[in-house]
Amino acid sequence: MCKIDNDFELYLSKHSTPEDDVLAELVRFTNLTTYNPRMLSGHQQGLFLQMICQMLKPQNILEIGTFTGYSAICMARGVMPNGQIDTIEANDELEEVINKFTNLAGVDQYIHLHLGNALTIIPKLSKSYELVFIDGDKREYPEYYKAVFPKVSIGGYIIADNVLWNGKVINPDSNDIHTNSILSFNRIVQEDRRVKNVLLPMRDGLMLIQKIKK
Ligand SMILES: C[S@@+](CC[C@H](N)C(=O)[O-])C[C@H]1O[C@@H](n2cnc3c(N)ncnc32)[C@H](O)[C@@H]1O
Repeated sequence: MCKIDNDFELYLSKHSTPEDDVLAELVRFTNLTTYNPRMLSGHQQGLFLQMICQMLKPQNILEIGTFTGYSAICMARGVMPNGQIDTIEANDELEEVINKFTNLAGVDQYIHLHLGNALTIIPKLSKSYELVFIDGDKREYPEYYKAVFPKVSIGGYIIADNVLWNGKVINPDSNDIHTNSILSFNRIVQEDRRVKNVLLPMRDGLMLIQKIKK
């Protein structure tokens, strides 16, 4: 990240409600104990997800890619009192940290952690979701979209993270598998007549998608 990006991130952070102690400790712990701590949603995006949940008042939320639980905690803070977040994580070594921090944040009663591959688990889920947050393996985004679409209620939303993929989506020299998958995902959504969508330049890009037809 260049200096202007750093300065910009700092400015955004200073002009948003501060991160609380539990989330700050989760960031610290994630930085100390995981290989790719930047995968975590972080301060602005976490607040954004929390506020989106407070506005939408979803009963059921599905998340693909829990990692250490940052986004799940933020969404749980915005969920209805009898709501639930089904969050799917492939790496079972993260179970302990997810449980520890969702408990410390006081939101564990809203969170149902499914350990395993989202593409195997999603077809077995019988609920309808008002919000789905896609944040798993970028190479699988088109498949996640196909798998979750029937599970989203009409009028419900899908939010997909990292759809700018560090700017590689507009770099003609980027021809790697991750970039190509994100490009395909963005194209599939853009051509899908069953949805309305807007690509927001928040952090690494968030695609907000509303399902308007089956
Ligand atoms: C970008 S991180 C998620 C970050 C998290 N949502 C947050 O904001 O803190 C992606 C996570 O997806 C998980 N993952 C990758 N492929 C998966 C799959 N097929 N099913 C479930 N989880 C997957 C990875 O193990 C990783 O922990």
